[in-house]
Amino acid sequence: MQKLIIKGKKKLFGSIDISGSKNATLPILAATLLTDKAVTLKNIPLVQDVYTMINLLKFIGLNIKISKKKNILKTSSNRKFKTLAPYNLLKTMRAGVLVLGPLLAKYRKAKVSLPGGCAIGARPVNLHLFALEKLGAKIKIKNGYMHATAENGLKGAIIKFPSISVGATESAILAAVSAEGKTIISNCAIEPEIQDMIVFLKKLGCNINFIGKRKILIIGTKKFKSTSHEVIFDRIELGTYLIAAALVGTKITLFKIKTKIIETEIKLLKKMGIKMKIDKNKITVFESGKINSVNIKTEPYPGFPTDLQAQIMVLMLRASGISKITENIFENRFMHVPELRRMGAKIITKKNTAYVTGPTNLSGAEVMATDLRASVSLVLAALNADSLTVINRVYHLDRGYENLEKKLKKCKANINRV
Ligand code: UD1
Repeated sequence: MQKLIIKGKKKLFGSIDISGSKNATLPILAATLLTDKAVTLKNIPLVQDVYTMINLLKFIGLNIKISKKKNILKTSSNRKFKTLAPYNLLKTMRAGVLVLGPLLAKYRKAKVSLPGGCAIGARPVNLHLFALEKLGAKIKIKNGYMHATAENGLKGAIIKFPSISVGATESAILAAVSAEGKTIISNCAIEPEIQDMIVFLKKLGCNINFIGKRKILIIGTKKFKSTSHEVIFDRIELGTYLIAAALVGTKITLFKIKTKIIETEIKLLKKMGIKMKIDKNKITVFESGKINSVNIKTEPYPGFPTDLQAQIMVLMLRASGISKITENIFENRFMHVPELRRMGAKIITKKNTAYVTGPTNLSGAEVMATDLRASVSLVLAALNADSLTVINRVYHLDRGYENLEKKLKKCKANINRV
């Protein structure tokens, strides 16, 4: 099994190009099932979750060609589709569930495995099913699979989500764009990745518009066009490298981004005292002096993202005083805390709140990655720790970070995979 070995306390400088967003690519890939025409996607991140989704789409019947040098992918569909998404392709990646809506809309039936378990919480799919049932689907759960049918096709409906879910909003949209008539979805998630999927769907010929802050109007269509789309940058990857730069950088510039999308994160980093030069499409982070403690809570966009919670905790370890994090999205998302403690971190958790005391001198240790964002928080901690850190189970990182070692090495980090 592969490990990362990091020698910390090295000052980093240079520049990093941010990759395309994994969480935008996955629903956009699922959306390509709607059309029989060719689709070209640019700026896709070549990470494990994207490959898993590609394998699922190929299994279903899409032809997909990837140009690895250019991060471009082309789909075309000329084979007969299967309406099955098997367990072996969903056990490692929950976003596979997103094929349910398009398959149901197009073929009026689908059998999709319930996704595998997840370290960060229970992560049920009840809200996905709630939306699809409103659109007229009949869904039974049997032998670990969702058996869904819509004998007379999906019909437009009013869907009011009882709570905000990124995936369920995507499922609802991906089914409604091809349902007969009008759908109104309210209390939906408005993450930039969903907005990027909507931009793609419009190019594909869908009639979809926001009619309120969390309200979407869709008029269904069966006519889709051939199109090309450049996926939005990965704001979580950007946030991760901003934190790395604030921790151990002397001067690091992050390119291929839109700063407007991460205003919450920028505001927080400024409050912590991080020195940055912010332009429309790039940010330069300068060497940090004293870092201030802060209190944050994770929330749906535009709030602070749960996917940056583990990383910001590492920056809080460098801040003077006690910082507080309240995790509101997932019930079990402090898995990185015991590992950070093994490196000398002073963190106490009470229910969904973590109290982080700093500044702390971290020391290298052998640690274990538990999920994607927890693993990268260990990388950040290791970059700022004395001596060597060995991170086990790095396959979690490969699910979502493109060329992590290469990007950090370019900024002179001492990081190696064995
Ligand atoms: C997506 C992101 C993930 C991010 C999360 C929250 C992708 C591929 N993944 O995950 O990186 O951490 O948004 O920003 O985009 N819930 C239910 N029932 C459901 C669905 C969700 O109760 O049917 C709950 C979840 O358990 C969680 C909350 O709703 O407590 C939010 O989850 P959701 O927004 O759906 O996350 P994902 O779409 O799975």
